[in-house]
Amino acid sequence: SRVVVLMGGPSAERDVSLSTGTECAKALRGEGYEVIEVDAGPGLAERLADLSPDVVFNALHGRWGEDGCVQGMLEWLRIPYTHSGVLASALAMDKTRSKEVYRAAGLPIVDSVIRSRDEVMARHVMEPPYVVKPNNEGSSVGVYLVTEGANDPPKLSADMPAHVMVEAFAAGRELTASVMGAGEGDPGALTVTDILTEGWYDYDAKYRPGGSRHVVPADVPSEIFDACMDYATRAHVALGCRGVSRTDFRWDEARGLDGLILLETNTQPGMTPTSLTPEQAQACGYSFGALCRWMVEDASC
Ligand code: DAL
Ligand code: MG
Repeated sequence: SRVVVLMGGPSAERDVSLSTGTECAKALRGEGYEVIEVDAGPGLAERLADLSPDVVFNALHGRWGEDGCVQGMLEWLRIPYTHSGVLASALAMDKTRSKEVYRAAGLPIVDSVIRSRDEVMARHVMEPPYVVKPNNEGSSVGVYLVTEGANDPPKLSADMPAHVMVEAFAAGRELTASVMGAGEGDPGALTVTDILTEGWYDYDAKYRPGGSRHVVPADVPSEIFDACMDYATRAHVALGCRGVSRTDFRWDEARGLDGLILLETNTQPGMTPTSLTPEQAQACGYSFGALCRWMVEDASC
């Protein structure tokens, strides 16, 4: 069947998406699909209507591609697409709204507030350490860490949104767990990865080969491992996700299970050569190609 791999687009994560899309297109060709790669831009709806694919493989990340916008267009065109639908995508991309969902589902999160950019630069909005980030970006784009004891509030770049999220800093190890569907017969939560970096797990550490080391399955107590698997599945279900998602955690070892915090769920997890989800799928017996095939077969609208 014919699959359009949708990638690129105008978001801050354009380059990440081009990498994800290129890898997935290659893998799907290897699986025997007819694949057309499409860079998302103006005229996309007409282009897709002309191509009339059996499935759109959504390899977009960030705004317009991960937040329900493109999903709504695909619903309108009645073309089955991979990953989450309109509502789950919109909820997960909005860090404030998704926290309301996690809180209602009893999942552990850290407190945060939304403040204007000017206010954040004028004074400490909360006691350092804290993190300032856009409410709706991925890949650590625009994330500022204000360290403990810092005197000055952060100087935010002019391209930060007018309002930003200020979040208490959750210390500890970076853990993550992917979920391949939470319905009957789905693989569910795959495994847990422990991400080791020299410093901060920022854009560079995420995408530069060798920028981070991944231990999979994570060498953590079974109580923590099982909690990550459980929380990732519950977050996926609470948001109403479909297909594959990946939920990121921080774990402060010294505090045991109480030190495990859910940071966010990504409805379009990266599928680049340095990404976490394909590695987790591999650890569970799904080659990159088999993972992409599963996504295409799971597509709906
Ligand atoms: N936002 C990036 C693509 C990820 O979560 O993998
Ligand atoms: Mg993210």
